[in-house]
Amino acid sequence: MLEPRTHTCGALRAPHAGADVVVQGWAQNVRDRGGVVFLVLRDRYGTVQVTIDERSPEAVREAAKKVAQEYVLQVRGTVVERFKPNEEMATGAIEIVAKDLEILAPTKPLPFAIARDIEATEETRLSYRFLDLRRPVLQDKLVARHKAVFAVRRYLDGEGFLEVETPILTKSTPEGARDYLVPSRVHPGQWYALPQSPQLFKQILMVSGFDRYFQIARCFRDEDLRADRQPEFTQIDLEMSFATREAVMAVSEGIVRAMWEAVLGEEIPEIPVLSFAESIARFGLDAPDLRFGMEHVTLTDRLAGSTFPPVASALAEGGIVKGFVVAGGAEGVSRKVLDAWTVFVKTYGLSGLLWGKLGADGLSGPLAKALPEGASAEDLAGWMGASQGDLLLVAAGSPTHVHPGLGRLRVHAAKELGLVEEGTFAFCWVVDFPAFEKDGEGHWTPMHHPFTAPRPEHVDWLGTERMGEILTDAYDLVCNGWELGGGSIRIHRSDVQAKVFDALRLPPEQQQERFGFLLEALAHGAPPHGGLAFGVDRCVAILTGSDSIRDVIAFPKTARAQCLMTDAPSRVPAEDLAALRVRSVEAQD
Ligand code: AMO
Repeated sequence: MLEPRTHTCGALRAPHAGADVVVQGWAQNVRDRGGVVFLVLRDRYGTVQVTIDERSPEAVREAAKKVAQEYVLQVRGTVVERFKPNEEMATGAIEIVAKDLEILAPTKPLPFAIARDIEATEETRLSYRFLDLRRPVLQDKLVARHKAVFAVRRYLDGEGFLEVETPILTKSTPEGARDYLVPSRVHPGQWYALPQSPQLFKQILMVSGFDRYFQIARCFRDEDLRADRQPEFTQIDLEMSFATREAVMAVSEGIVRAMWEAVLGEEIPEIPVLSFAESIARFGLDAPDLRFGMEHVTLTDRLAGSTFPPVASALAEGGIVKGFVVAGGAEGVSRKVLDAWTVFVKTYGLSGLLWGKLGADGLSGPLAKALPEGASAEDLAGWMGASQGDLLLVAAGSPTHVHPGLGRLRVHAAKELGLVEEGTFAFCWVVDFPAFEKDGEGHWTPMHHPFTAPRPEHVDWLGTERMGEILTDAYDLVCNGWELGGGSIRIHRSDVQAKVFDALRLPPEQQQERFGFLLEALAHGAPPHGGLAFGVDRCVAILTGSDSIRDVIAFPKTARAQCLMTDAPSRVPAEDLAALRVRSVEAQD
């Protein structure tokens, strides 16, 4: 019979000796030492040893023989001090001598042990997520997530923010991904979209005068998944009226400070601010990892006279040449590694990697051939800030290939060479983003989203040949090379919003059909406003040293957007589809 629990498994200490207690939990470990059975009982709070020996009644000794790993047990017994304390257990000073033992539930054989390190594939772990989540390592991550989100709620409440829920069944909110669509039964042929973010609703809440809004919001995006992307994820979403970009950034910093304090007890030092242009120039990426150096150096003018084909042809086509130095890499980085890095940069569209090693007898490697007439190895070393024993990595090509290629290589090389100090956090703000960039087909698309305000002095450039020069007050908060959050000051005038849609070549009928409600709201007295959203999953992954955000989501999806535990997505009965007036067209080969 279930009795009231007197203590959790992690609670008992030496002063409890002599107490009669009732504990419940899972049998993490069962050892039978010739008539004496030692059980380690585990719950969310810790583990405790239970001993069943000649001090226990006969019936309990019999029951103990039936216990196997992960059985759910209730133990009543007396706390006694251990003869030899176990220093590795928080409760190691004591054990419970069982007076009563009840098996509350047995278990089927386990697909893997509930231990810190397990060999099971991720597929097995996700299929048996209820077992995987019993592992204290994963439980700790969800505890950290709770603490982080709780601290954020407390902080934002203190700053006067109101938590308001916005719809899940809604209209498309473009954030650059595909929508998940839900058919309407009541309106056959019509569809809801799941929100990619609450962007438009939070702006409308500003029009309604709520002044400071936040929400721990679920977002849904049908996009290619990676370690830092899930099809459904959670944002700390906020919006503020009459706020400058500095005001939004200050509140946002308060959020990360609250999370770091709550989970790690750590203070974050002052966060440096980089412009987008500076970030690209120095690191090749708009989410730079500042835990290590190896900054990029521009060599375009220095190598202008080069006749070496990879450089000469890139420059002839208006390209650039950039590089960076791996200190001491001349010895440590093998030819094999350099070949692998060459393959790596080719995936970013570069034609190859020019490397050179600075040795006692000058520069060796393909880079030596790239020097223009009259330039020496010492000159190159001077331009790049290198010295003898260093490895130089250089690439030539269009900026759209050189920046991401060398940018990713900088991170990849640093990780491979062990130059990244784990457990440290390097934050930065990246600001002054361009409003638009060209997509793969050469069309202008918003860099953040189309509701981001162009700088007032650049509004006249909308739709002109200066589109690419238009800057915004958008800002991203980056930590260790991960974009944790991003936001912007918004357009609060319907005429400017329509101008942006026009510049993006969105026909007026579509502007009305898709965003008519926003334009209408903006035309009814909208305050200037701005906001930001953090990815909760990314923040907690960084806080807990997790490689993938899957580890900090209770029930995540695979890289193919499936839930292996529930087997979603799955087929539905034909009559359900018929009720929705939806017909399934099977994929045709
Ligand atoms: P954005 O699209 O930059 O901005 O998203 C904000 C933050 O959400 C996180 N994030 C994700 N996390 C996990 N999986 C994903 N698929 C995923 N996509 C995004 C990132 C990102 O920094 N409405 C705007 C915010 C604003 O302007 O206020 C928005 O959603 O951490």
